[in-house]
Amino acid sequence: MILGLKIFNEKGNCASCHQLTNAKSEGNIGPSLDDLKPTQAQVKQAVINGIGIMPAFGNDKILTPQEIDAVSFYVEKATK
Ligand code: HEC
Repeated sequence: MILGLKIFNEKGNCASCHQLTNAKSEGNIGPSLDDLKPTQAQVKQAVINGIGIMPAFGNDKILTPQEIDAVSFYVEKATK
């Protein structure tokens, strides 16, 4: 969880585009993850391949597979 939060706020920069109360982020370019409550698999899919203007963190090797697992796990748990 701690690693996932760190990636969310720092390396992945997810916080700049997404609202997520657990991470105290208020980005409003992408959908609110608080409302969406995505599953770990759904987050992983979006983060690896990108969607719309969201970067493809996996395909572009911005995040490692381990980092993607950590951030996906974190987002699912943080929105339960
Ligand atoms: C540049 C802004 C931006 C960044 C950075 C960003 N996203 Fe997104 N994200 C978006 C937008 C915009 C959408 C909606 C795309 C669409 O539906 O066309 C989205 C969609 C999503 C979805 C929903 C996918 C679905 O199945 O509908 C998830 C989950 C998600 N983002 C998680 C993340 C995570 C985790 C990170 C960090 C690793 C991240 N995003 C970084 C802009 C961003």
